[in-house]
Amino acid sequence: MAKDIAVPELDTVPVHVGVIMDGNGRWAKKRGLPRKFGHREGVKTFRAITRRAKQLGIKYITFYAFSTENWKRPKDEVDSIMALFEKNLDEVKDFIDEEIRVRFIGDRTALSETLREKMRNTEESSKHFTDTTMILAINYGGQDEICNAVKRISEKVKNGEVDTSEITTEMITEHLYTEDIPPVDYIIRPSGEMRLSNFMIWQAAYAEYYFTNILWPDFSVADFDKAIKEYGDRSRRFGGV
Ligand code: FPP
Repeated sequence: MAKDIAVPELDTVPVHVGVIMDGNGRWAKKRGLPRKFGHREGVKTFRAITRRAKQLGIKYITFYAFSTENWKRPKDEVDSIMALFEKNLDEVKDFIDEEIRVRFIGDRTALSETLREKMRNTEESSKHFTDTTMILAINYGGQDEICNAVKRISEKVKNGEVDTSEITTEMITEHLYTEDIPPVDYIIRPSGEMRLSNFMIWQAAYAEYYFTNILWPDFSVADFDKAIKEYGDRSRRFGGV
């Protein structure tokens, strides 16, 4: 548990960390178990890392839990991931006890009404917490998000609310699911894959990356501390010198 390991003193922590929870399937396969066991184990890591993020003073942490492309997986696996969301939103009370704000990004229209209601309730009951916000990306795709923003801005142009000359990068940012959330500074991807997989492609314009071969269910609080420490050594120039 996160509480058992001393919290390191860090001079610099990223404001917004993104995590691509990858390797659950391989973790299960290595043990001869169905993939859904890997996802179940991955939830334990997700909970421990969320708590640690708060202890380290990280303001925003976004987890990529289900992408717009993940519907292509076998129905049994999709159903088990959806069931995990529902179960964990019932248990999210722990996060509320720990004063962590919970938000969701992604297209909710394809999700069950039960899940959507739980998402709304969780957001509502945690909205007054200000230290750390945990954002769960469910049915999320960066291209889909940008497409949605373009449609909404186009409607405003059509209605005469906005002139095309007024469209700026800031305006696009404000029409994303992350409208009021700062850009992502640091993206952690375990399991040895080195790609973004349609995760916050707009918000990651100047993000730093951290890759490790550890599979997500095995990714520990100590591994997270190590990744966050390494961020402090990065030199970010945002296109300057
Ligand atoms: C990627 O690993 C993981 C997913 C697509 C699902 C992640 C979902 C969870 C951890 C459950 C989330 C639930 C809550 C409440 C946060 P993979 O299956 O692609 O792994 P592989 O590359 O080894 O096959």
